[in-house]
Amino acid sequence: MKPMLGSYLLLSIFPFCSAELYRAAAERIMNETPLIDGHNDLPWQLLKKFNNRLSVAPANLTLLSDTHTNIPKLRSGHVGGQFWAAYVPCDTQNKDAVKRTLEQIDVIHRMCDKYPEAFVCVTNSTGIEDAFREKKVASLIGVEGGHSMDSSLGTLRMFYQLGVRYMTLSHSCNTPWVDNWLVDTDQEQPVHNGLSQFGKRVVREMNRLGMLVDLAHVSVQTMANALEVSKAPVIFSHSSAYELCRSRRNVPDDILRRVNEMGGLVMVNFYNMYVSCNKEAANLSQVADHLDHVKKVAGSAAVGFGGDYDGVPTVPQGLEDVSKYPDLIAELLRRKWTETEVKAALALNLLRVFQKVEEVRDSLSQEPPDDEPIAYEELEGQCRTSYGYPARASASTPSLVPAALISPLLYSLLL
Ligand SMILES: *[C@@H]1O[C@H](CO)[C@@H](O)[C@H](O)[C@H]1NC(C)=O
Ligand SMILES: *[C@@H]1O[C@H](CO)[C@@H](O)[C@H](O)[C@H]1NC(C)=O
Ligand SMILES: *[C@@H]1O[C@H](CO)[C@@H](O)[C@H](O)[C@H]1NC(C)=O
Ligand SMILES: [Zn+2]
Repeated sequence: MKPMLGSYLLLSIFPFCSAELYRAAAERIMNETPLIDGHNDLPWQLLKKFNNRLSVAPANLTLLSDTHTNIPKLRSGHVGGQFWAAYVPCDTQNKDAVKRTLEQIDVIHRMCDKYPEAFVCVTNSTGIEDAFREKKVASLIGVEGGHSMDSSLGTLRMFYQLGVRYMTLSHSCNTPWVDNWLVDTDQEQPVHNGLSQFGKRVVREMNRLGMLVDLAHVSVQTMANALEVSKAPVIFSHSSAYELCRSRRNVPDDILRRVNEMGGLVMVNFYNMYVSCNKEAANLSQVADHLDHVKKVAGSAAVGFGGDYDGVPTVPQGLEDVSKYPDLIAELLRRKWTETEVKAALALNLLRVFQKVEEVRDSLSQEPPDDEPIAYEELEGQCRTSYGYPARASASTPSLVPAALISPLLYSLLL
C-alpha cells in the first residue's frame, strides 16, 4: 500500500498526468497478479470460422485479427488465466450436444498443444499459479450449459476427466432438470421451479468431483436452489448486476448477498446488453459501475471479471478487446479501489474459490459416485435408446418394435 500513497499525492498535485499514473499503476499490479477471466468464447469462433481446423493458415492465433481475442492481445491485457467456453448452442440439445461439446473441449486442448509458448492447459489452482510464473495463459475449460451433459452423470464425470472445471447449469434453454433465465422473462414458463431432484444431484456430484458450479444463465430460483444445495462456493462466470441493468442474465441484490455469505464470486460480463441494457451503447465507466456495485453489495471478495469476449456482438467503448483490461483496472484505481481489492478481483478471489472447491472435493473423497440415472420418463427427444432401463421403459419405446421390420429393409438397401 505504501507506494500507492505516493501516487495519490502526486495525482492531487498533477491532475493532468493522473490518467497515465493510474495506467502505470495498473500495469505494475497486473505484472504481479495477472487477470483470470471467467468466460471467453474464442473456441466458438474457431468452430464458426474454421470448423475447428487450427491447421489452416488464417486460424493462426497470433495473427487472428477479426476476433476480440488473439495471443498478442491477451499479452497486452495481462491475461494470466482464462476459462475457455466449451459452448454448443441449445438447438443441439437431444441431438448432437455431447459430441459437439467434446469437439469444443478437443479444440481447447489443441490450442494449448499448438501454442505452448502462450497457453498451458491446467486443471487445478496450483496449475494457475505455476502458469502465472511462466507468463503463460493458464487455460481452463468451462462447459456452458447443462444440455451439454444430456442428463447423464457419467458424461459429467467424463467431462471432469477431460479437464472441465466448471459447468454452467443451463444455457438459454431449460433441460430435463434445470430452469434457465428466460423463465424469468415472458419468453418461457418455469418447468422445474429451479432445480429438479435430479438437478440437485447434479450439483452434489459436481461438488464431489471438484467442478465449479456456474450460475450464469440460470433462473433466479435455480440460483437460490443451487446456493442452498452446493457444499462449495458457486460462481457466476459472466453475469453483471441486475440493480444497474434489469436484464434477467444479471444477478439481483438478494442473490449477491447470498454470494457474500457463502464466499462465492460474480465475474462481471461486459456485453453492452447486460451493462447498459442498450445493445448499441455502453462504456468502460459503466462496467466499472457494475464492479463497484458487486463490491458494495457482495463484498470485494466476490468481485471478478467475465468479459464474454468473442461470445457477444457488442462490447463497451474502451473495452473493445482483451487487450483493454488494464484500462479498466486503472479506472478502478481512480475510483479508490485499494491494491488489495484490485488483486482480489484480478485473480485471488477466483483462486480462493477454486481452492475451496478442491477442499470440498477432498473432504468428499470417501463418497461413492452417484450412479443412479435420471428417470427414463424425465428424458426428452425421440431418438434415444433405453438400454439399461427396466423393460417397461424399453418396451414403450418405439425403436424395439419396428426393429424386426426395419432391419430386413435396411439390409436390402445396403445390398
Ligand atoms: C503464426 O504466425 C506467426 C507470425 O507469422 C508465425 O511466426 C507462427 O509460426 C505461426 N504459428 C503457427 C502455429 O502457424
Ligand atoms: C495439478 O495438476 C497437475 C497437472 O496439470 C498435476 O500434475 C498436479 O499433481 C495437480 N496438483 C494437485 C495439487 O492436484
Ligand atoms: C459512459 O456512458 C454514460 C451513459 O451514457 C455517460 O453518462 C458517461 O458520461 C460515459 N462515460 C464516459 C467516460 O464516456
Ligand atoms: Zn453465456
